[in-house]
Amino acid sequence: MRKRAIITSALPYANGEIHLGHVASTYLPADVTTRFLKMNDVEAYYICASDDFGTPIMIQSEKEKKTPQEYVAHWNKRDYDDFTAFDIGFDFFYRTSSQENIEFVRYVFNNLVKNDHIYKSEIIQFYCKNDNKFLPDRYVTGTCPYCKADDQYSDLCEKCGRVPEEIENPKCAICGAVPVKEKTIHYFFKLKNFGDALYKWLDENQNLQKDVKKYVQNWITSGLVDWDITRDISWGVPVPGDESKVFYGWFDNHLAYISTAVKFLNDKGIDGKEFWNSADIYHFIGKDIVYHHYLFLPAMRLGIDQEYKLPDFIPTRGHLTLQSKKISKSRNWYIGLKEFLEFYPADYLRFYLVSINPYSQDDLNFDWDDFAVRINSELIGNLGNLVNRALGFTKKTFDGIIPSPDDYDDKDRDAEAKIMSLASELSVLMSQTILIAH
Ligand code: 2FM
Ligand code: ZN
Repeated sequence: MRKRAIITSALPYANGEIHLGHVASTYLPADVTTRFLKMNDVEAYYICASDDFGTPIMIQSEKEKKTPQEYVAHWNKRDYDDFTAFDIGFDFFYRTSSQENIEFVRYVFNNLVKNDHIYKSEIIQFYCKNDNKFLPDRYVTGTCPYCKADDQYSDLCEKCGRVPEEIENPKCAICGAVPVKEKTIHYFFKLKNFGDALYKWLDENQNLQKDVKKYVQNWITSGLVDWDITRDISWGVPVPGDESKVFYGWFDNHLAYISTAVKFLNDKGIDGKEFWNSADIYHFIGKDIVYHHYLFLPAMRLGIDQEYKLPDFIPTRGHLTLQSKKISKSRNWYIGLKEFLEFYPADYLRFYLVSINPYSQDDLNFDWDDFAVRINSELIGNLGNLVNRALGFTKKTFDGIIPSPDDYDDKDRDAEAKIMSLASELSVLMSQTILIAH
Protein backbone atom coordinates (compact mmCIF):
# COMPACT_ATOMS: atom_id res chain seq x y z
CA MET A 1 0.00 0.00 0.00
CA ARG A 2 1.43 3.38 -1.00
CA LYS A 3 1.25 6.31 1.41
CA ARG A 4 -0.81 8.32 -1.05
CA ALA A 5 -4.13 7.44 -2.63
CA ILE A 6 -6.76 8.89 -4.92
CA ILE A 7 -10.15 7.28 -4.71
CA THR A 8 -12.92 7.87 -7.23
CA SER A 9 -16.34 6.37 -7.68
CA ALA A 10 -18.34 6.20 -10.93
CA LEU A 11 -19.47 9.72 -11.73
CA PRO A 12 -23.26 10.10 -11.39
CA TYR A 13 -25.11 11.33 -14.49
CA ALA A 14 -26.48 14.81 -13.85
CA ASN A 15 -29.99 13.80 -14.77
CA GLY A 16 -31.73 12.20 -11.87
CA GLU A 17 -31.63 11.57 -8.19
CA ILE A 18 -29.24 9.28 -6.39
CA HIS A 19 -30.91 6.10 -5.19
CA LEU A 20 -29.97 3.22 -2.94
CA GLY A 21 -28.57 1.20 -5.85
CA HIS A 22 -25.97 3.88 -6.55
CA VAL A 23 -24.69 4.21 -3.01
CA ALA A 24 -24.58 0.48 -2.30
CA SER A 25 -22.26 -0.50 -5.13
CA THR A 26 -19.89 2.45 -5.37
CA TYR A 27 -20.17 5.54 -3.18
CA LEU A 28 -20.40 3.85 0.19
CA PRO A 29 -17.63 1.25 -0.38
CA ALA A 30 -15.38 4.03 -1.70
CA ASP A 31 -16.20 6.25 1.26
CA VAL A 32 -15.45 3.47 3.77
CA THR A 33 -12.17 2.69 2.00
CA THR A 34 -11.11 6.34 2.01
CA ARG A 35 -11.85 6.66 5.72
CA PHE A 36 -9.89 3.51 6.44
CA LEU A 37 -6.89 4.70 4.43
CA LYS A 38 -6.95 8.08 6.17
CA MET A 39 -7.05 6.39 9.57
CA ASN A 40 -3.94 4.49 8.51
CA ASP A 41 -2.01 7.65 7.74
CA VAL A 42 -2.39 7.38 4.00
CA GLU A 43 -2.76 10.79 2.38
CA ALA A 44 -6.00 9.84 0.66
CA TYR A 45 -8.44 11.99 -1.28
CA TYR A 46 -11.90 10.98 -2.41
CA ILE A 47 -12.72 12.74 -5.69
CA CYS A 48 -15.99 12.78 -7.59
CA ALA A 49 -17.94 14.89 -10.10
CA SER A 50 -21.27 14.95 -11.86
CA ASP A 51 -21.26 13.42 -15.34
CA ASP A 52 -22.79 16.29 -17.32
CA PHE A 53 -22.55 15.59 -21.02
CA GLY A 54 -24.45 13.37 -23.42
CA THR A 55 -27.61 13.03 -25.46
CA PRO A 56 -30.02 12.00 -22.67
CA ILE A 57 -29.12 15.12 -20.67
CA MET A 58 -29.48 17.38 -23.67
CA ILE A 59 -32.88 16.00 -24.60
CA GLN A 60 -34.15 16.10 -21.02
CA SER A 61 -33.04 19.71 -20.53
CA GLU A 62 -34.89 20.65 -23.74
CA LYS A 63 -38.03 18.98 -22.41
CA GLU A 64 -37.75 20.96 -19.19
CA LYS A 65 -37.11 24.18 -21.12
CA LYS A 66 -33.77 24.75 -19.44
CA THR A 67 -30.34 25.22 -20.93
CA PRO A 68 -28.18 22.12 -20.47
CA GLN A 69 -25.94 24.19 -18.16
CA GLU A 70 -28.87 25.10 -15.89
CA TYR A 71 -30.12 21.56 -15.95
CA VAL A 72 -26.82 19.96 -14.91
CA ALA A 73 -26.14 22.66 -12.31
CA HIS A 74 -29.40 21.67 -10.62
CA TRP A 75 -28.49 17.98 -10.48
CA ASN A 76 -24.89 18.62 -9.49
CA LYS A 77 -26.07 20.46 -6.39
CA ARG A 78 -28.89 18.06 -5.61
CA ASP A 79 -26.61 15.00 -5.88
CA TYR A 80 -23.95 16.60 -3.75
CA ASP A 81 -26.53 17.54 -1.08
CA ASP A 82 -27.91 14.00 -1.02
CA PHE A 83 -24.44 12.48 -0.72
CA THR A 84 -23.59 14.88 2.09
CA ALA A 85 -26.76 13.96 3.96
CA PHE A 86 -25.61 10.34 3.69
CA ASP A 87 -22.22 11.32 5.18
CA ILE A 88 -20.25 10.59 2.04
CA GLY A 89 -17.09 12.55 2.65
CA PHE A 90 -15.85 13.64 -0.76
CA ASP A 91 -12.74 15.75 -0.57
CA PHE A 92 -13.87 17.37 -3.79
CA PHE A 93 -17.02 17.09 -5.90
CA TYR A 94 -16.80 18.85 -9.25
CA ARG A 95 -18.27 18.38 -12.75
CA THR A 96 -17.22 16.93 -16.10
CA SER A 97 -18.34 20.17 -17.80
CA SER A 98 -15.72 22.19 -15.87
CA GLN A 99 -13.34 24.32 -17.89
CA GLU A 100 -10.46 22.25 -16.50
CA ASN A 101 -11.97 19.03 -17.78
CA ILE A 102 -12.89 20.46 -21.18
CA GLU A 103 -9.29 21.62 -21.65
CA PHE A 104 -7.89 18.32 -20.43
CA VAL A 105 -10.12 16.27 -22.76
CA ARG A 106 -9.00 18.34 -25.75
CA TYR A 107 -5.38 18.01 -24.64
CA VAL A 108 -5.69 14.22 -24.40
CA PHE A 109 -7.37 14.05 -27.81
CA ASN A 110 -4.57 16.11 -29.41
CA ASN A 111 -2.00 13.79 -27.91
CA LEU A 112 -3.83 10.72 -29.12
CA VAL A 113 -3.86 12.28 -32.60
CA LYS A 114 -0.14 13.01 -32.32
CA ASN A 115 0.52 9.39 -31.35
CA ASP A 116 -1.53 8.19 -34.32
CA HIS A 117 -4.32 6.56 -32.33
CA ILE A 118 -7.18 8.48 -33.97
CA TYR A 119 -8.67 8.37 -37.45
CA LYS A 120 -11.72 9.83 -39.19
CA SER A 121 -14.18 7.64 -40.96
CA GLU A 122 -17.47 8.02 -42.73
CA ILE A 123 -20.11 6.05 -40.94
CA ILE A 124 -23.71 5.26 -41.47
CA GLN A 125 -25.75 6.29 -38.47
CA PHE A 126 -29.31 5.76 -37.50
CA TYR A 127 -31.41 8.84 -38.16
CA CYS A 128 -35.02 9.37 -37.16
CA LYS A 129 -37.03 11.15 -39.85
CA ASN A 130 -39.81 11.84 -37.35
CA ASP A 131 -37.56 13.61 -34.87
CA ASN A 132 -35.06 14.92 -37.46
CA LYS A 133 -32.16 13.72 -35.33
CA PHE A 134 -29.21 11.45 -35.53
CA LEU A 135 -29.82 8.77 -32.95
CA PRO A 136 -26.72 7.97 -30.96
CA ASP A 137 -26.39 5.53 -28.06
CA ARG A 138 -29.45 5.30 -25.84
CA TYR A 139 -31.65 6.69 -28.59
CA VAL A 140 -31.71 3.41 -30.39
CA THR A 141 -32.89 0.19 -28.82
CA GLY A 142 -32.85 -3.27 -30.33
CA THR A 143 -31.40 -6.76 -30.13
CA CYS A 144 -27.82 -7.32 -28.93
CA PRO A 145 -25.81 -8.82 -31.83
CA TYR A 146 -23.75 -10.95 -29.41
CA CYS A 147 -26.13 -12.49 -26.90
CA LYS A 148 -29.40 -11.75 -28.76
CA ALA A 149 -30.98 -10.10 -25.72
CA ASP A 150 -33.96 -7.94 -26.76
CA ASP A 151 -34.67 -4.36 -25.79
CA GLN A 152 -31.05 -3.28 -25.28
CA TYR A 153 -29.57 0.17 -25.83
CA SER A 154 -27.29 0.48 -28.84
CA ASP A 155 -24.32 1.56 -26.69
CA LEU A 156 -24.40 -1.15 -24.04
CA CYS A 157 -26.01 -4.54 -23.66
CA GLU A 158 -27.08 -4.87 -20.04
CA LYS A 159 -27.38 -8.65 -20.41
CA CYS A 160 -23.86 -9.51 -21.59
CA GLY A 161 -22.07 -6.25 -20.78
CA ARG A 162 -20.67 -5.72 -24.28
CA VAL A 163 -20.79 -2.62 -26.45
CA PRO A 164 -22.55 -3.70 -29.66
CA GLU A 165 -20.91 -2.76 -32.95
CA GLU A 166 -24.38 -2.46 -34.49
CA ILE A 167 -27.62 -3.22 -32.74
CA GLU A 168 -30.11 -5.48 -34.56
CA ASN A 169 -33.82 -4.64 -35.12
CA PRO A 170 -33.27 -0.95 -34.29
CA LYS A 171 -36.01 1.38 -33.06
CA CYS A 172 -35.96 5.09 -32.24
CA ALA A 173 -36.17 5.33 -28.45
CA ILE A 174 -38.01 8.67 -28.66
CA CYS A 175 -40.88 7.80 -30.98
CA GLY A 176 -40.56 4.06 -31.63
CA ALA A 177 -40.19 4.46 -35.41
CA VAL A 178 -37.73 2.35 -37.36
CA PRO A 179 -34.81 4.72 -38.08
CA VAL A 180 -33.15 5.13 -41.46
CA LYS A 181 -29.41 5.15 -42.05
CA GLU A 182 -27.58 8.36 -42.99
CA LYS A 183 -23.93 9.15 -43.65
CA THR A 184 -21.83 11.23 -41.25
CA ILE A 185 -18.13 11.59 -40.40
CA HIS A 186 -16.95 10.44 -36.98
CA TYR A 187 -13.61 10.13 -35.19
CA PHE A 188 -12.40 6.73 -34.03
CA PHE A 189 -9.96 5.66 -31.35
CA LYS A 190 -7.83 2.68 -32.40
CA LEU A 191 -8.81 0.44 -29.52
CA LYS A 192 -7.81 -2.61 -31.59
CA ASN A 193 -4.17 -1.52 -31.34
CA PHE A 194 -4.23 -1.84 -27.57
CA GLY A 195 -5.37 -5.46 -27.26
CA ASP A 196 -1.94 -6.88 -26.38
CA ALA A 197 -0.98 -4.07 -24.01
CA LEU A 198 -4.31 -4.29 -22.19
CA TYR A 199 -4.06 -8.06 -21.92
CA LYS A 200 -0.58 -7.75 -20.42
CA TRP A 201 -1.63 -5.00 -18.01
CA LEU A 202 -4.51 -7.17 -16.79
CA ASP A 203 -2.18 -10.15 -16.38
CA GLU A 204 0.35 -8.19 -14.38
CA ASN A 205 -1.99 -6.29 -12.08
CA GLN A 206 -2.60 -8.57 -9.10
CA ASN A 207 -5.02 -6.12 -7.46
CA LEU A 208 -7.79 -6.54 -9.99
CA GLN A 209 -10.61 -8.99 -9.34
CA LYS A 210 -9.79 -12.30 -10.98
CA ASP A 211 -13.26 -13.07 -12.29
CA VAL A 212 -13.60 -9.66 -13.94
CA LYS A 213 -10.13 -9.90 -15.44
CA LYS A 214 -10.98 -13.24 -16.93
CA TYR A 215 -13.97 -12.13 -18.89
CA VAL A 216 -12.33 -8.87 -19.97
CA GLN A 217 -9.42 -10.93 -21.31
CA ASN A 218 -11.94 -13.09 -23.16
CA TRP A 219 -13.35 -9.97 -24.78
CA ILE A 220 -9.84 -9.02 -25.87
CA THR A 221 -9.14 -12.46 -27.27
CA SER A 222 -12.36 -12.49 -29.23
CA GLY A 223 -11.35 -9.15 -30.84
CA LEU A 224 -11.74 -5.51 -29.91
CA VAL A 225 -13.30 -3.02 -32.29
CA ASP A 226 -12.22 0.57 -32.79
CA TRP A 227 -14.25 3.02 -30.79
CA ASP A 228 -16.43 5.80 -32.22
CA ILE A 229 -15.68 8.75 -29.94
CA THR A 230 -17.70 11.64 -31.45
CA ARG A 231 -21.34 12.64 -31.71
CA ASP A 232 -23.40 15.03 -33.85
CA ILE A 233 -25.00 16.92 -30.99
CA SER A 234 -24.40 20.31 -29.41
CA TRP A 235 -23.90 19.40 -25.74
CA GLY A 236 -20.42 18.07 -25.05
CA VAL A 237 -16.72 18.85 -25.33
CA PRO A 238 -16.12 20.29 -28.84
CA VAL A 239 -13.65 18.32 -30.95
CA PRO A 240 -10.50 20.41 -31.58
CA GLY A 241 -10.45 21.52 -35.19
CA ASP A 242 -13.98 20.26 -35.85
CA GLU A 243 -15.99 22.22 -33.34
CA SER A 244 -19.44 21.30 -34.66
CA LYS A 245 -18.93 17.82 -33.25
CA VAL A 246 -18.55 16.85 -29.62
CA PHE A 247 -16.97 13.90 -27.86
CA TYR A 248 -19.02 10.94 -26.74
CA GLY A 249 -19.65 11.20 -22.98
CA TRP A 250 -17.57 8.10 -22.24
CA PHE A 251 -14.56 9.71 -23.92
CA ASP A 252 -14.61 12.69 -21.58
CA ASN A 253 -16.17 11.53 -18.30
CA HIS A 254 -13.40 9.32 -16.89
CA LEU A 255 -10.84 11.99 -17.79
CA ALA A 256 -12.57 14.07 -15.12
CA TYR A 257 -11.16 11.63 -12.53
CA ILE A 258 -7.78 13.09 -13.43
CA SER A 259 -8.66 16.72 -14.20
CA THR A 260 -10.74 17.01 -11.01
CA ALA A 261 -8.08 15.44 -8.79
CA VAL A 262 -5.35 17.57 -10.32
CA LYS A 263 -7.35 20.79 -9.91
CA PHE A 264 -8.15 19.96 -6.29
CA LEU A 265 -4.53 19.13 -5.48
CA ASN A 266 -3.05 22.08 -7.36
CA ASP A 267 -5.46 24.40 -5.54
CA LYS A 268 -4.12 22.99 -2.28
CA GLY A 269 -0.59 23.80 -3.37
CA ILE A 270 0.27 20.15 -4.10
CA ASP A 271 1.63 19.14 -7.52
CA GLY A 272 -1.44 17.25 -8.77
CA LYS A 273 0.25 15.35 -11.56
CA GLU A 274 3.15 14.25 -9.39
CA PHE A 275 0.71 13.17 -6.67
CA TRP A 276 -1.40 11.15 -9.13
CA ASN A 277 1.65 9.32 -10.42
CA SER A 278 2.93 8.43 -6.98
CA ALA A 279 -0.40 7.40 -5.47
CA ASP A 280 -2.49 4.25 -5.44
CA ILE A 281 -5.37 4.94 -7.82
CA TYR A 282 -8.75 3.39 -7.01
CA HIS A 283 -11.78 3.57 -9.31
CA PHE A 284 -14.87 2.13 -7.63
CA ILE A 285 -17.51 1.01 -10.14
CA GLY A 286 -20.60 -1.13 -10.63
CA LYS A 287 -20.35 -4.17 -12.89
CA ASP A 288 -22.33 -2.52 -15.72
CA ILE A 289 -19.39 -0.28 -16.63
CA VAL A 290 -16.58 -2.84 -16.66
CA TYR A 291 -16.03 -2.50 -20.40
CA HIS A 292 -15.41 1.25 -20.06
CA HIS A 293 -13.06 1.01 -17.06
CA TYR A 294 -11.05 -2.06 -18.02
CA LEU A 295 -10.68 -1.25 -21.72
CA PHE A 296 -11.45 2.33 -22.82
CA LEU A 297 -9.98 4.05 -19.78
CA PRO A 298 -6.65 2.19 -19.58
CA ALA A 299 -6.25 2.22 -23.38
CA MET A 300 -6.58 6.01 -23.43
CA ARG A 301 -4.00 6.36 -20.67
CA LEU A 302 -1.67 4.02 -22.56
CA GLY A 303 -2.33 6.09 -25.69
CA ILE A 304 -0.88 9.21 -24.06
CA ASP A 305 2.23 7.30 -22.93
CA GLN A 306 0.94 6.90 -19.39
CA GLU A 307 1.42 10.55 -18.62
CA TYR A 308 -1.09 9.72 -15.86
CA LYS A 309 -0.75 6.25 -14.43
CA LEU A 310 -3.27 3.48 -14.87
CA PRO A 311 -5.50 2.40 -11.98
CA ASP A 312 -4.16 0.03 -9.33
CA PHE A 313 -7.59 -1.03 -8.07
CA ILE A 314 -10.94 -1.13 -9.84
CA PRO A 315 -13.25 -2.47 -7.13
CA THR A 316 -16.20 -3.80 -9.11
CA ARG A 317 -19.42 -4.63 -7.37
CA GLY A 318 -22.74 -6.14 -8.30
CA HIS A 319 -26.08 -4.41 -8.37
CA LEU A 320 -28.47 -3.83 -5.55
CA THR A 321 -31.84 -5.46 -5.97
CA LEU A 322 -34.83 -4.22 -4.02
CA GLN A 323 -36.92 -6.94 -2.39
CA SER A 324 -35.12 -9.30 -4.81
CA LYS A 325 -36.31 -7.38 -7.88
CA LYS A 326 -34.08 -5.39 -10.23
CA ILE A 327 -34.11 -1.65 -9.49
CA SER A 328 -35.74 0.29 -12.31
CA LYS A 329 -36.38 4.01 -12.26
CA SER A 330 -38.71 3.84 -15.23
CA ARG A 331 -40.81 1.17 -13.50
CA ASN A 332 -40.65 3.21 -10.31
CA TRP A 333 -39.00 0.34 -8.43
CA TYR A 334 -36.33 2.19 -6.48
CA ILE A 335 -35.84 4.18 -3.28
CA GLY A 336 -34.40 7.68 -3.59
CA LEU A 337 -31.62 8.41 -1.13
CA LYS A 338 -33.18 11.71 -0.09
CA GLU A 339 -36.51 10.11 0.68
CA PHE A 340 -34.93 7.26 2.60
CA LEU A 341 -33.06 9.71 4.80
CA GLU A 342 -36.31 11.50 5.62
CA PHE A 343 -37.33 8.35 7.49
CA TYR A 344 -34.10 6.87 8.86
CA PRO A 345 -30.70 8.16 9.99
CA ALA A 346 -27.83 7.83 7.54
CA ASP A 347 -26.02 5.43 9.88
CA TYR A 348 -28.84 2.86 9.66
CA LEU A 349 -28.42 2.65 5.91
CA ARG A 350 -24.62 2.78 6.03
CA PHE A 351 -24.53 -0.03 8.59
CA TYR A 352 -27.00 -2.20 6.70
CA LEU A 353 -25.44 -1.76 3.26
CA VAL A 354 -21.93 -2.41 4.56
CA SER A 355 -23.08 -5.53 6.36
CA ILE A 356 -24.61 -7.09 3.22
CA ASN A 357 -21.92 -5.92 0.79
CA PRO A 358 -19.38 -8.47 -0.51
CA TYR A 359 -16.24 -7.49 -2.45
CA SER A 360 -17.39 -9.24 -5.58
CA GLN A 361 -19.70 -8.85 -8.51
CA ASP A 362 -22.49 -10.76 -6.81
CA ASP A 363 -25.69 -8.79 -6.55
CA LEU A 364 -26.83 -7.72 -3.10
CA ASN A 365 -30.40 -7.39 -1.96
CA PHE A 366 -32.12 -4.72 0.07
CA ASP A 367 -34.84 -6.40 2.09
CA TRP A 368 -37.02 -4.42 4.51
CA ASP A 369 -37.42 -7.28 7.01
CA ASP A 370 -33.71 -8.01 7.01
CA PHE A 371 -33.02 -4.28 7.38
CA ALA A 372 -35.30 -4.11 10.45
CA VAL A 373 -33.73 -7.20 12.04
CA ARG A 374 -30.16 -6.06 11.52
CA ILE A 375 -30.77 -2.54 12.72
CA ASN A 376 -32.79 -3.64 15.74
CA SER A 377 -30.65 -6.54 16.83
CA GLU A 378 -27.15 -5.65 15.66
CA LEU A 379 -26.85 -1.87 15.45
CA ILE A 380 -29.24 -0.94 18.25
CA GLY A 381 -29.37 -4.22 20.25
CA ASN A 382 -25.63 -4.91 20.33
CA LEU A 383 -23.69 -1.79 19.54
CA GLY A 384 -26.16 0.87 20.68
CA ASN A 385 -26.96 -1.03 23.84
CA LEU A 386 -23.32 -1.44 24.76
CA VAL A 387 -22.68 2.28 24.38
CA ASN A 388 -25.91 3.18 26.13
CA ARG A 389 -25.21 0.91 29.11
CA ALA A 390 -21.62 2.05 29.44
CA LEU A 391 -22.63 5.71 29.36
CA GLY A 392 -25.66 5.15 31.64
CA PHE A 393 -23.51 3.28 34.15
CA THR A 394 -20.84 5.99 34.09
CA LYS A 395 -23.44 8.67 34.62
CA LYS A 396 -25.28 6.89 37.42
CA THR A 397 -22.27 5.57 39.29
CA PHE A 398 -19.58 8.18 38.67
CA ASP A 399 -21.57 11.35 37.92
CA GLY A 400 -20.65 11.04 34.26
CA ILE A 401 -16.90 11.33 34.88
CA ILE A 402 -14.73 8.33 34.08
CA PRO A 403 -12.58 7.69 37.16
CA SER A 404 -8.89 6.79 36.84
CA PRO A 405 -8.55 3.04 36.98
CA ASP A 406 -7.07 1.04 39.87
CA ASP A 407 -4.25 -1.36 39.09
CA TYR A 408 -5.35 -3.81 36.44
CA ASP A 409 -6.16 -7.35 37.52
CA ASP A 410 -6.18 -10.36 35.20
CA LYS A 411 -9.75 -9.75 34.05
CA ASP A 412 -8.94 -6.17 33.11
CA ARG A 413 -5.83 -7.20 31.24
CA ASP A 414 -7.80 -9.87 29.44
CA ALA A 415 -10.51 -7.40 28.43
CA GLU A 416 -7.95 -4.86 27.29
CA ALA A 417 -6.12 -7.45 25.17
CA LYS A 418 -9.40 -8.48 23.53
CA ILE A 419 -10.28 -4.89 22.69
CA MET A 420 -6.83 -4.15 21.30
CA SER A 421 -6.73 -7.31 19.20
CA LEU A 422 -10.19 -6.61 17.82
CA ALA A 423 -9.02 -3.31 16.36
CA SER A 424 -5.97 -4.85 14.74
CA GLU A 425 -7.89 -7.91 13.49
CA LEU A 426 -10.41 -5.60 11.90
CA SER A 427 -7.64 -3.59 10.34
CA VAL A 428 -6.10 -6.72 8.81
CA LEU A 429 -9.46 -7.76 7.39
CA MET A 430 -10.02 -4.31 5.92
CA SER A 431 -6.58 -4.25 4.30
CA GLN A 432 -7.16 -7.69 2.87
CA THR A 433 -10.49 -6.57 1.46
CA ILE A 434 -8.81 -3.63 -0.18
CA LEU A 435 -5.59 -5.26 -1.27
CA ILE A 436 -6.58 -8.76 -2.18
CA ALA A 437 -8.83 -9.03 -5.17
CA HIS A 438 -11.16 -12.02 -5.12
O1 2FM B 1 -22.73 4.80 -15.82
C1 2FM B 1 -22.75 5.91 -15.32
O2 2FM B 1 -23.56 6.24 -14.46
C2 2FM B 1 -21.70 6.91 -15.74
N1 2FM B 1 -22.16 8.25 -15.47
C3 2FM B 1 -20.45 6.61 -14.99
C4 2FM B 1 -19.30 7.44 -15.40
S1 2FM B 1 -17.88 6.94 -14.62
C5 2FM B 1 -16.74 7.63 -15.60
F1 2FM B 1 -16.63 8.85 -15.39
F2 2FM B 1 -15.74 6.93 -15.72
ZN1 ZN C 1 -25.66 -8.73 -25.32
